[in-house]
Amino acid sequence: VGVRLPPSRVPDPADAPSLRWGILAPGGIARTFVDALQAHTGQRVVAVGSRSAARAAAFASEFGVARSYGSYEQLVADPEVDIVYVASPQSEHLAHGLLAVEAGKPVLVEKPFALSAAEAEQLVAAASARGVFLMEAMWTRFLPHIDVIRQVLDSSLLGEVHTLIADHGQAFDPAQPHRLFSPELGGGALLDLGVYPVSFASFALGAFASIHAVATPAPTGVDGQVSVIVTTPSGAHGLLNTTVLARTPTTACICGTRARLELEDSFYMPTTVRLIDAADGQVLDVVEPTFQRHRGLAFEAAAVARCVTDGRTESDEMPLEETLSVMRALDAIRTQTARA
Ligand SMILES: NC(=O)c1ccc[n+]([C@@H]2O[C@H](COP(=O)([O-])OP(=O)(O)OC[C@H]3O[C@@H](n4cnc5c(N)ncnc54)[C@H](OP(=O)(O)O)[C@@H]3O)[C@@H](O)[C@H]2O)c1
Repeated sequence: VGVRLPPSRVPDPADAPSLRWGILAPGGIARTFVDALQAHTGQRVVAVGSRSAARAAAFASEFGVARSYGSYEQLVADPEVDIVYVASPQSEHLAHGLLAVEAGKPVLVEKPFALSAAEAEQLVAAASARGVFLMEAMWTRFLPHIDVIRQVLDSSLLGEVHTLIADHGQAFDPAQPHRLFSPELGGGALLDLGVYPVSFASFALGAFASIHAVATPAPTGVDGQVSVIVTTPSGAHGLLNTTVLARTPTTACICGTRARLELEDSFYMPTTVRLIDAADGQVLDVVEPTFQRHRGLAFEAAAVARCVTDGRTESDEMPLEETLSVMRALDAIRTQTARA
């Protein structure tokens, strides 16, 4: 009786100090990000930069953004931009992240942070040399349900954790051109979608002791489906799957000797979490999300605003060492699944 999940400690995103954001690359996620900021935060989007002046102007007019630029160079040079949000495809993250860092701007880089650990290290070193804030936009880490789980993992509620299962699959048609199928844009299931289950396993289990991966290519040669088993030094297993070829449950669970946590579809967005008794399968407690899907990006933006306002160069929830550790795991998976 009375086994409860702890309440989230994540503050209201609307209470964070307000930064002036510059959006680099006004594509799909940039729209979603600005929508979340405008719906749930006091963050101000003041400028947008595109490779095309017309695209920048259209985005600016749609979202009421004051200044639009036909180049990323002009955007990062804007003295009234406090932070740059890099929302280009992952093939460009290093170059665009460096552009912002070299202009002395704090920068939030969309996931996956880069194409490889080597690229990630280069960007981290540049930010460190300039003393500017840098973070991977792994927004899941800032969501209230993840803070509930963080507290559960710090307690003995689950008993000993032995097994984690997480998947992320979306059905894209390989016959339709999409950056996900493009080798040049860093496409493939692993970097785009698989980064979520891999990062979640790293968050919940800690550093991996071993990684075993298999992959099936998509017709364009990028990875279409990847399955991975990770282990920890204590012998826990994480079973992870990602695919761009089929819609999978996109759920996660963390299973211990006393209880397990089940995260509903989509586990990496604001979602329902259940605490389930290991002995009898009884649902002991449930937490429901308060934000809709990608509107949860507001939590990440608010956390970044707090860090930058406090003069910090990285975030406690998503430290750069953790980004590098996940990038190294992604490298190992890619090495194991590379075809001759
Ligand atoms: N956090 C999330 O939930 C989430 C969701 C979706 C995607 N993402 C990540 O966000 C990034 C962007 O994804 P997206 O779906 O927004 O992509 P998208 O719709 O294709 O937008 C990317 C934008 O990048 C710019 N760009 C710069 N160089 C480019 C190049 N060589 N080829 C194509 N576009 C280029 C383009 O804008 P201009 O040419 O106008 O400058 C384009 O509109 C990816 O890294 C992806 O993994 C994150």
